[in-house]
Amino acid sequence: MKIILIGPPGAGKGTQAEKLATHWKTPRITTGDLFRQAVQNKTPMGLQVQGFLEKGALVPDDVVLGLMQERMSGPDCKSGFILDGFPRTVGQAIGLETWLKKTEMVLDAVVVIDVPEEEAVRRITGRRQCGACGSTYHLQFQPPRQDGICDKCKSLLVQRKDDEEKTVRHRLKVYAGETLPLIDFYKQRHLLRQVDGVQKPAEVFQTICSLIK
Ligand code: AP5
Ligand code: MG
Ligand code: ZN
Repeated sequence: MKIILIGPPGAGKGTQAEKLATHWKTPRITTGDLFRQAVQNKTPMGLQVQGFLEKGALVPDDVVLGLMQERMSGPDCKSGFILDGFPRTVGQAIGLETWLKKTEMVLDAVVVIDVPEEEAVRRITGRRQCGACGSTYHLQFQPPRQDGICDKCKSLLVQRKDDEEKTVRHRLKVYAGETLPLIDFYKQRHLLRQVDGVQKPAEVFQTICSLIK
């Protein structure tokens, strides 16, 4: 399966990407996680993108496309991938389309998960993420078995720096301005599937599976 997940911050892209990747035994590629890792490791790219992430602004298209071409050229992506958070601008979508044509890969579907702004803010401000494996939790909606500890790898859970309310509201504005135009872009290509994100995570997952069979 070659799937793109689109949605505002807090829609549950990461939560669903994790389930879909396990279900199809396919790699999950999350641009946000790749950038956060680079920032943590202080790589040249990390230093370049840190300011954008902290402000909740988008990283420039050329940096994103360079990173993704390298990542998607990996042998693990030959038979499929779940893209979580990429593309996010029409420029990135065009770059991806050109690259897929060149490599003779075909997308199966583009899934848009939608939630209203206040729900997104509620979800993000309660989110905690595993610093090691990236698994996502929510203090109220998806608590870990043991406070502050990842169920899967027992590492510490942390809060993202861009998850304070002011930055989240800015990320939502950026989504509306830069990413929403992708809905028409993929509708024109008959790839779009829309899912109501205001259901339990397991229900969202079932809906996605039923739409992309
Ligand atoms: P990124 O890491 O992709 O952040 P985002 O798009 O803002 O989305 P989030 O990760 O915040 O939300 P999500 O939809 O994954 O929700 P989650 O599943 O965690 O990007 C971060 C930054 O990196 C960007 O701001 C930008 O600077 C840069 N960047 C990344 N990609 C880029 C690109 N392509 N171009 C340019 N810049 C880029 O769920 C949220 C919470 O809700 C969790 O706590 C979860 O447990 C809970 N939850 C999930 N589903 C449900 C449910 N159904 N019911 C109740 N709770 C739920
Ligand atoms: Mg995410
Ligand atoms: Zn973990």
